[in-house]
Amino acid sequence: MARIAYDAATAASFKAVREIPRGGMDAWEDAVRRHLNPSAGMTIVDIGAGTGAFAAAFCDWFATKVVAVEPSEAMLALIPERPGLRIRAGHAASLPLPDTCADAAWLSTVTHHIPDLAAAAQEIRRVLRPGAPVLIRNAFAGRYERLRIVHWFPETTRLLDTYPSVEETCEAFAAAGFAPTALEPVPQADIASLAEFLERADALRAADTLMRSLTEEEFARGKEQLRAAAAAPEAPTGADLTSSLDLLVLR
Ligand SMILES: C[S@@+](CC[C@H](N)C(=O)[O-])C[C@H]1O[C@@H](n2cnc3c(N)ncnc32)[C@H](O)[C@@H]1O
Repeated sequence: MARIAYDAATAASFKAVREIPRGGMDAWEDAVRRHLNPSAGMTIVDIGAGTGAFAAAFCDWFATKVVAVEPSEAMLALIPERPGLRIRAGHAASLPLPDTCADAAWLSTVTHHIPDLAAAAQEIRRVLRPGAPVLIRNAFAGRYERLRIVHWFPETTRLLDTYPSVEETCEAFAAAGFAPTALEPVPQADIASLAEFLERADALRAADTLMRSLTEEEFARGKEQLRAAAAAPEAPTGADLTSSLDLLVLR
């Protein structure tokens, strides 16, 4: 069971305000390229692919084959078509794929939704070829100093602290024979100004697990601070507006 229901309304909000515009994904393209060394013909399994932003990007950037696996029908329906992209219903502990068929697994902002991470790790082991990496893009408990959402809505740490930590994630994957090889924060440029962030706040509250965890009062307080900062003459611009999630790589 995911922490929120990815129904049609949530899926539409997610597509509108959670997907990073392609121009803001450069650092992620670079990081995945460095750790995966992709080549045409490789198969990446995107687990919990959502609306397919990364699945489509991998096809476009690397010309790899991608299998997007997603449990929510509403999210899955919004995945764009691409040559080389197959879309499948399924979840992390039950992947609709044969043994040793894939060259990498990608999980983006999914690990905190998976009820049994150790079972998922075993299933990922089954479908990956020996030596293939697992790339996890996520916020982890205790590591949120570069998260914009925490800066403006600090009470989101209440829920963030219940997400699997890096240590817990490594432990779950160790039991399936994976060891960590890298951990790095990777920035994304998904907003052009604080005013834009403020504009999106209500829709984000509908589409984001962390924003949903706030009380009305906490949400209103964060928005008020954002409004004041957005109107200030020294409001941040450019790189100061980026937010980072961690990339954890295991092999
Ligand atoms: C925050 S969204 C991330 C979507 C996409 N990976 C991205 O980064 O744009 C989390 C996704 O995980 C999916 N999900 C929830 N539980 C899952 C599970 N047990 N296995 C795989 N995916 C799951 C949800 O349906 C949702 O689409």
